[in-house]
Amino acid sequence: MEIVICPDATEAGRLGANAIVALLQRKPDAVLGLATGSSPMAIYDELVRRRQSGEVSFAQARAFTLDEYVGLASDHRETYHNVIRRDFVDRVDFAPAAVHGPDGLAADLPAVCHEYEEAIVTAGGVDLQILGIGTDGHIGFNEPSSSLASRTRIKTLATQTRIDNARFFGGDVDQVPTHCITQGLGTIMDARHVVLVASGHGKAEAVHQLAEGPVSAMWPATILQHHPHVTVLLDEAAAGRVQ
Ligand code: F6R
Repeated sequence: MEIVICPDATEAGRLGANAIVALLQRKPDAVLGLATGSSPMAIYDELVRRRQSGEVSFAQARAFTLDEYVGLASDHRETYHNVIRRDFVDRVDFAPAAVHGPDGLAADLPAVCHEYEEAIVTAGGVDLQILGIGTDGHIGFNEPSSSLASRTRIKTLATQTRIDNARFFGGDVDQVPTHCITQGLGTIMDARHVVLVASGHGKAEAVHQLAEGPVSAMWPATILQHHPHVTVLLDEAAAGRVQ
């Protein structure tokens, strides 16, 4: 695990974008794994700039999002389908059908989970997975006590995660869905390169566990200690508890 402590989140975003640009220059049809939320925004903003300057193109790239809320109406602005389009996908030149996410409104959610796993394999697997980390150590929505070998499945969101995400729902935790579909820890571990980005004091304990804690289902991100190629990009606040 390579840990890079940056002066600020903008620099962490620049380094994350560098990795994606280098991958796409080498492999234009690479498969990207996309996280939603605040953490990857500096990476996405930088990638939009690099696209505008003509340094990189996503025209042949494919992408899979990590997770989706269950039961949010398709026109709700906080479905992860809508969030990733607004925050990143529609700001660059992805082909319309090249970005995939689990359908949180499907009648048969277990079938959706199974098909999502198959679609990732059929695409050739994820070349580079972008991750954020929850204050409780989740990656994707693999909450504490998730199986370290888990695959894409339905999960109950932890109370802490719903409190953390209430800021996207007008501050009202009751509006945050209770369930989600998430890639499993085993799914994430299959990605060839993982780039995890974290900023702010609120992430310091989870980052400490990720980097220095024992591997434990109670801090799901710690499974990344067993991954052969992980880059962790931190600002100084998120790195505050790393020895
Ligand atoms: C989002 C996801 C989550 C977030 C995490 C951190 O697709 O899978 O693991 O990365 O909850 O969220 P932010 O970045 O908003 O602090």
